[in-house]
Amino acid sequence: MYSGDMAYARDDIDLVRDKTDLVELASEITKVKKSGRSTMAVCPFHSEKTPSLSIDGARGLYYCFGCGKSGDIYRWVQETQAVDFAGAVEFLARRAGVTLKVDPEAAKRRNRRERLVEATGLAVAFYSDRLKSAPDAASARSYLRGRGYDGDVVDQFGIGYSPDEWDLLVTHLRDKGVREDTMTTAGLAMKSRTNSLIDRFRGRVMFPVYDLRGDAVGFGARVLDGDGPKYLNTAESPIYHKSRLLYGLNWAKSEVVRRGESVVVEGYTDVIAMHMAGLPIAVATCGTALVEGHLDLLRRFSERVVLAFDADEAGAGAALRGFERSVPGDLDLRVAMLPDGKDPADVVADGGVDALDLAIRNSVPLLMVRIDSELSQHNLSEPEARTRAVRAAAAVIALHPDPVARHEYAVMVSRRTGVETRLVEQAIRSASKTQTSDGRRTTQGGTSTVDDRQPEVRTATYPTEVELLRSLLANDERLADVEVSEDLFANASTLDAYRLIKKMIVGLGPGETPDLGTAFGSDESPAAGFLRRIALDDKLLADPAELVSWLQVSDIETEIAEIKASLQQMDKDSDAQGYSGLWTRLIALEQSRRSLRSTD
Ligand code: UTP
Ligand code: MN
Repeated sequence: MYSGDMAYARDDIDLVRDKTDLVELASEITKVKKSGRSTMAVCPFHSEKTPSLSIDGARGLYYCFGCGKSGDIYRWVQETQAVDFAGAVEFLARRAGVTLKVDPEAAKRRNRRERLVEATGLAVAFYSDRLKSAPDAASARSYLRGRGYDGDVVDQFGIGYSPDEWDLLVTHLRDKGVREDTMTTAGLAMKSRTNSLIDRFRGRVMFPVYDLRGDAVGFGARVLDGDGPKYLNTAESPIYHKSRLLYGLNWAKSEVVRRGESVVVEGYTDVIAMHMAGLPIAVATCGTALVEGHLDLLRRFSERVVLAFDADEAGAGAALRGFERSVPGDLDLRVAMLPDGKDPADVVADGGVDALDLAIRNSVPLLMVRIDSELSQHNLSEPEARTRAVRAAAAVIALHPDPVARHEYAVMVSRRTGVETRLVEQAIRSASKTQTSDGRRTTQGGTSTVDDRQPEVRTATYPTEVELLRSLLANDERLADVEVSEDLFANASTLDAYRLIKKMIVGLGPGETPDLGTAFGSDESPAAGFLRRIALDDKLLADPAELVSWLQVSDIETEIAEIKASLQQMDKDSDAQGYSGLWTRLIALEQSRRSLRSTD
């Protein structure tokens, strides 16, 4: 059964919620540990060994201190099973033995989607029939044969041909009872200059685009010999959202989960070529740049995402610049270097399936590619150019959230350039200062300024800091027993916001909520805007004591990682005193980490 827009009655949804125990639900897929009133679980949304997901069984809510994911039973199922809200309701209702009634208003909305999907499906069948039997499709058939597609491939991918006439599809759909506004909303037809309804796609090879459920929602249409752009892609519609849609993911998803990686290629024909080559893990955007929405989608199926197109030169390359900022830490984004810069379809056509497979297996981290490309733009035999090269590479490395990884990259750059590791690390530190990537270093003691032009690079503790700000905004009574101070905020934006809140709640009793309107209603600073935004979020407040201890632990962990990195690099014979000093500090830190952890 279709499960798109919400079609279920509110009271059913609440009934299912009452009958569902989140602790039990979580224990079906992850390790759950009860300790006193609260329940902790190993978070399924990021990789970890010690549980940091806290579950409030009574209220059916969860919050992860590690990655900041939170929600209720429905969100849990949506995120862990990659289904939409209605899908989650259906799953939990079945599990709870509740029979769902359908809400008529929502059913109407659902009908709209169904009509659009049905019209698109009818178009897929129409184009496919034309490809197979119409005399005017001869050139399309020979184009596909030329690409090596046989009947099975054509069937599997639903490939078709749109006749080079004005309104054959429109007429066909009209005969099938499809409404005209459905045809235009689905992007299948458009108004001509004389105001009659005509086909949107004419004289093109049609590649249907399917969503995750396997419903056709749009097309990529390749020109044969007519004019116009090489590809026409369906425009944004209620069922076709190009920033969240990947061509091929419907066929690739289970194999992506099995292998733990997906491969992003340039276009429709590359996806098909990879499938034909026995590598059914390829996806492509539908004529747009790769954006965060696509990565979010891929991350639901695997951590590792390999880009197999020219990430530095192609149009997509430009979009990738600065990507590292927004790439979540748990996504392993890599680049595969294809032989001679060819695209996967060319490689397969040349009989290079093994070469393609090898290139994917030998993929390198995106960050490494970016560093290489910075270094290659400078003449490393000249001192000044070498300095510029190191500074440019350092700016890229500074984006990495993990201090150990930053150190490893520094060693790599040192090896390539001959510049001492110590100096490379210094360059990384000063780069991260100018990028305001680390609020604590830039803002200590002074007034911090959040630079609007440059997106802030957030530390991993950012979501937890925001949660703490929310509990300060609400002046949560539990704050009475908790000490909050500036050094808990490692990001410039959260630190600024904290300073502003502190002024607001001074003098208020516990639980007394500050009036946000009078406190900073007309304040136009970025910090005030930021607070107004997070104040809108009405999800449950976490226990501030837990938030604070979590921030302290992660602070300690950052220092531990930094000390470990320096210890590794130090020569313990030549600097015995420094070495043992660091060891002592490390052991003390480990101790306080353990004591903070065991309080809950
Ligand atoms: P290509 O030009 O490589 O298309 O574009 P192709 O069909 O593979 O052509 P040949 O056979 O190699 O010459 C790669 C992808 O870029 C997108 C499409 O997704 C296409 O599959 N594209 C290209 C567009 O969206 N619009 C265009 O006008 C061109
Ligand atoms: Mn191509």
